[in-house]
Amino acid sequence: MASRRTITVGTDGGSQKVEIQVPETEPAIWDADARLNVVGKPVRRLDGTAKVTGAARYTSDIHLPGMLYGKILRSPHPHALVRSIDATRAARLPGVKAVITFEAPDSFSRLDRSEDSGNPSPAASEAPGSPGRAGRRILFAGEEVAAIAAVTAEIAEDALEMIEVRYDILPHVVDLEDARKPDAPKVYAKGNLPSPSIGGQGDVEAGFKAADAVVEGTYTTPVALHNALETHGAVARWESGRLDVWASTQGVFGFRDDLAKFFGIPMAGVRVQSEYLGGGFGAKFGAGVTGVIAALLAKKAQAPVKLMLDRHEENLATGNRPSSVQWIKVGARKDGTLTAIHLRSHGTAGIAPGAGVSGPVRMFYACPNIRTEEQDVFTNAGFAMPFRAPGFPQGSFALESALDELADRLGIDPLDLRKKNYLEQRAKALRQQYDLAAKAIGWSRRRAPAAAPKNGEIRRGLGMGTAAWGMYGEPPADATVRIGSDGRVECVCGTQDIGTGTRTAMAIVTAEVLGLGPDQVQVILGDTGTGMYSPASGGSVTLTSILPAVRSAAEGARRKLLEAAAPGLGARPEDLDLKDGRINAADGARSMTFAQAAGRLKSAVISAQASRAENYEGMGGASWGAQFAEVEVDTGTGQVRVLKITAAHDAGRTINRLASESQINGGVIMALSYALLEQRVIDAPTGLVMNANLEDYKIAGPMEMPEIVPIMIEAYDAANNIGVKGLGEPPVVPTAAAIANAVSNAIGVRVRDLPITPDRILALLGKVKEA
Ligand code: MOS
Repeated sequence: MASRRTITVGTDGGSQKVEIQVPETEPAIWDADARLNVVGKPVRRLDGTAKVTGAARYTSDIHLPGMLYGKILRSPHPHALVRSIDATRAARLPGVKAVITFEAPDSFSRLDRSEDSGNPSPAASEAPGSPGRAGRRILFAGEEVAAIAAVTAEIAEDALEMIEVRYDILPHVVDLEDARKPDAPKVYAKGNLPSPSIGGQGDVEAGFKAADAVVEGTYTTPVALHNALETHGAVARWESGRLDVWASTQGVFGFRDDLAKFFGIPMAGVRVQSEYLGGGFGAKFGAGVTGVIAALLAKKAQAPVKLMLDRHEENLATGNRPSSVQWIKVGARKDGTLTAIHLRSHGTAGIAPGAGVSGPVRMFYACPNIRTEEQDVFTNAGFAMPFRAPGFPQGSFALESALDELADRLGIDPLDLRKKNYLEQRAKALRQQYDLAAKAIGWSRRRAPAAAPKNGEIRRGLGMGTAAWGMYGEPPADATVRIGSDGRVECVCGTQDIGTGTRTAMAIVTAEVLGLGPDQVQVILGDTGTGMYSPASGGSVTLTSILPAVRSAAEGARRKLLEAAAPGLGARPEDLDLKDGRINAADGARSMTFAQAAGRLKSAVISAQASRAENYEGMGGASWGAQFAEVEVDTGTGQVRVLKITAAHDAGRTINRLASESQINGGVIMALSYALLEQRVIDAPTGLVMNANLEDYKIAGPMEMPEIVPIMIEAYDAANNIGVKGLGEPPVVPTAAAIANAVSNAIGVRVRDLPITPDRILALLGKVKEA
């Protein structure tokens, strides 16, 4: 059954009443008019102390009796055929308890990633163990070949060296442009160029004819590595045919499902826990080869096995953000109205697909004529995984740079050009975001550079970029809230806290409904054993998926508690209110504490379970953002210093102001690092990654930090009973574009390549040959 309700939507800048259809089971929606006590305030993480004192248990902190240590042997060759694997000597080393290889019967290649690409999988086309088979192909340096479990990590490592693998080395290709040539070594039998993805609308040729100004340029971005603080890893234990796993994963349920499928056992036979997690950023979906190997080793050794990757392995074989080469052409009329955008891109996600970058072009602006052509290029390199707003940081760098160039060409302020073209009907908050972030950076100071900089001159510049993201969460997501007769309150959802503060957000919503403080709520999460389903923490959908269920469950528990309290207060349950730890009768005459009410329960515990409803029809859209950067460029050394970034973002209703601002800060920091420093380097002749570590792969540190000004705009479009939207990914989308535009503004030459390193700046200024 559904009911029609009138709610208030909009932002501080303007709201309106709309009538929407929602399921009757939904509680009163927290719309723009809702007055809340806990939600939206800055709340310190409930687990902050546990984290900084080391009390929080991460996967690597799990120690089980009799636990062994796993290590993986990886291919030193970027492309090879494995002729044979002889692990006899390794298996005989004292302390070694299990050896597996990617050959039958322990083959871990059944989760072969190449199957995802729609290309013939060597594993699928050759029955494991079939006599006389040619052996499996290794597709990149670092791919898993064998693994060992031993009583210590050192013994396992020593044993790896005793495994004798005979490789037939095959020609490899790791360079993006080389891989496109007709005679390039083939990563897959069908070649290195899967079908391109073509999209768009209207007629770009007609659009360019109608334009008064057209700019075009080619922009490049590097392969970047996720580098979550915590590497991939798992602890696996089999008992009576049941599998228990502790894993560093952004999706305990997906991890469970992958293992159940791999071992052919029911989902109920696998339990995955992840109580604390040191980030994932998209690289920790599913069990992956690491999770499967941990479980296989544990099964074979008949003992628990811990398998944590080191940073080198992490940066070779667990995912990356693909590279891109983007040719983009944009046309507009004199007044700045866009007439056409044409994007043609190619990039490599290694042996996987996923190098598309067209999201921003398709999403950001109201343009009638758009054409996108995207080409994945397979190379003998580690596979990509989704990486915080997949495709968007790359795509926005090219699009927003081109718009900046167009604005300069037309003599229009770049901000005015954006405002002229944004999708007004979808971006209720964006005008406000543009204005607030522009004001905070002092945008009115922006000037076109007067002349070429003199040697050694320090130049400053201002630039901007736009963000959009369109995920709203969805069912299934389930939660339970329990109240014990001792007054304890538990909020249960299997979801993982990837590090964003999910635990605290669950407590905040529960506390709001029950009239308590967040620290009075125990949160139980990170465990498929709870039976309370949650989607993976990706796509910025965690809070948008689970919090509506948490709220509904808390409302159910609240009703039951008030029913128990009502007789003692001589009131009807619906006339009671819960606030500041007390239950008050509406007339204010009588009240009792939360604990007293809990003591009147007729059972030791009451519990209410609820599920997330579908997004309300017609509600939602995208969440938007805008960032502005001020930079300083030393034209003598080519050094770029980001001085300040103002970042206005819309996450719908803010749940925890402190956590939201932290998300923005973290996104800006990560994307600044991408803009200025990060790039995975592979040596073409050997096909080896030269900087699979955190010494040569440079990540921004305290010295690179600018002043960051996070600005939250709350746009209530109420697609769920809380009105929350995602904020995990949007803040990384516009930063590189804003910085590149600021640098271009400072030096008077357009930056077209990331990262913006000093050698590239000097090349742009004509001081050194092309970087
Ligand atoms: Mo993300 S790339 O959805 O973790």
